[in-house]
Amino acid sequence: MMRVYVEDLSRHVGEDVEIAGWLYIQRGNNKLRFLQVRDGSGIVQCIVAKNDLGEEVFELAKAMTQECSLKVRGTVNADERAPGGHEIVAKEVELVGESNDYPISPKEHGDAFLLDNRHLWLRSKKQHAVLRVRHEIIWAIRDFFNNRGFLLFDTPMFTPNAVEGTTDLFEVSYFDTSAFLSQSGQLYGEAGAMAHGRIYTFGPTFRAEKSKTRRHLTEFWMMEPEVAYLDLDGDMQLAEDMTMYILERVLEKRRPELEALERDISKLEAVKRPFPRIHYDKAAETLIKYASEHPDEEGAPFTHGEDFGARHESILTENSDSPIMVTHFPAEFKAFYMKRDENQPDRVLGFDMIGPEDAGELIGGSVREDDYDKLVSRIKEHDLPMEPFEWYLDLRRYGSVPHAGFGLGLERTVKWIAGRDHLRECIPFPRMMYRMKP
Ligand code: 4AD
Ligand code: MG
Repeated sequence: MMRVYVEDLSRHVGEDVEIAGWLYIQRGNNKLRFLQVRDGSGIVQCIVAKNDLGEEVFELAKAMTQECSLKVRGTVNADERAPGGHEIVAKEVELVGESNDYPISPKEHGDAFLLDNRHLWLRSKKQHAVLRVRHEIIWAIRDFFNNRGFLLFDTPMFTPNAVEGTTDLFEVSYFDTSAFLSQSGQLYGEAGAMAHGRIYTFGPTFRAEKSKTRRHLTEFWMMEPEVAYLDLDGDMQLAEDMTMYILERVLEKRRPELEALERDISKLEAVKRPFPRIHYDKAAETLIKYASEHPDEEGAPFTHGEDFGARHESILTENSDSPIMVTHFPAEFKAFYMKRDENQPDRVLGFDMIGPEDAGELIGGSVREDDYDKLVSRIKEHDLPMEPFEWYLDLRRYGSVPHAGFGLGLERTVKWIAGRDHLRECIPFPRMMYRMKP
């Protein structure tokens, strides 16, 4: 009998097939059992009748417990009322592996318990759906850049220098010396862009963030395009095009998952280009006005020149269906490599893309300083050691060109699109300040 996956059942209506998976749940009486069997690709209801299978097999099926593994062989019926549109009328049922006292029952569990059991929690319907949305986002990103002639450029995880500031570096021993885990592949990506014109990196990044927010992991995945001869407007256009491509792809391919997550899909469908571009000064004005109208609200007070907090990002996107792009942040709290605006030298030619529905910062990007002397002074101003950056300065010594790029936080994007509360559900095994297990 042919082994098929639940997601392919529509091609086998009327045929006899074998399904191999795990028992999600079962119900029924002493003559008829309804086994919900999941195989990773979907869930199908299998009808087990005592009259068809005989006493012994029926009793075996009836005694099967949550998450035991099993095989069911039977006939595929199309049935609109059945979840997924199909059911299997069983002819044989076989127990593969027992599962006694499975710890995660359909009742509510606390967060800590679920995280301790993440290796099993992954099997639950919503967690299953989130990771399939994540998968789709990753492939949409790859397709978007591959279709546009970008080269996938893998950058190292062990690095000798800081990229995004020195405070949140993980230092690891490296033979007789020490290394830092990469906070961003960008600097290497710039070398790639000088060789290939357009590249993107996609890999894990590490930040020793001592923050316990819903938006921070210590290990997260970032995708960073880098493009030679690109300016700020072009950089933002690329980010907008990519974001729309991802959204359209997930809406096209992962509707069942979004529905399983009870995501309000109309909110995703409401996202439209162009995304508003807002100068930092204008954003600051909005925040100051808001704070004066809501003097008692926690997190709302704001002074011009500050970086945004989570509450500020929410206020700025409150009336927008689409992500917004804030430009020209004060250089003071931005990275050393960002190019300054000639007309406003205390500002950087950079942008943050902030998502709607409280999604927070999804993307940070900028034009890079391409002038050798200015870059040397920036490295000094940021108290960074010169020696590890010599190779990076070579990119300004030999055929320097204007160039730009950005970094998209994968888990933040998954959190937004899948409508989750916390980043810890958006990666298979989350790493946070207070959690490294399982
Ligand atoms: O804004 P960030 O720090 O930018 C960079 O690292 C640049 N080198 C990118 C570039 O221009 N090539 O980080 C980029 C994105 C953020 O917008 C956010 O989505 C995500 O990475 N991010 C985090 N995600 C999860 N946990 C954390 N601790 C994160 N820190 C940043
Ligand atoms: Mg940022």
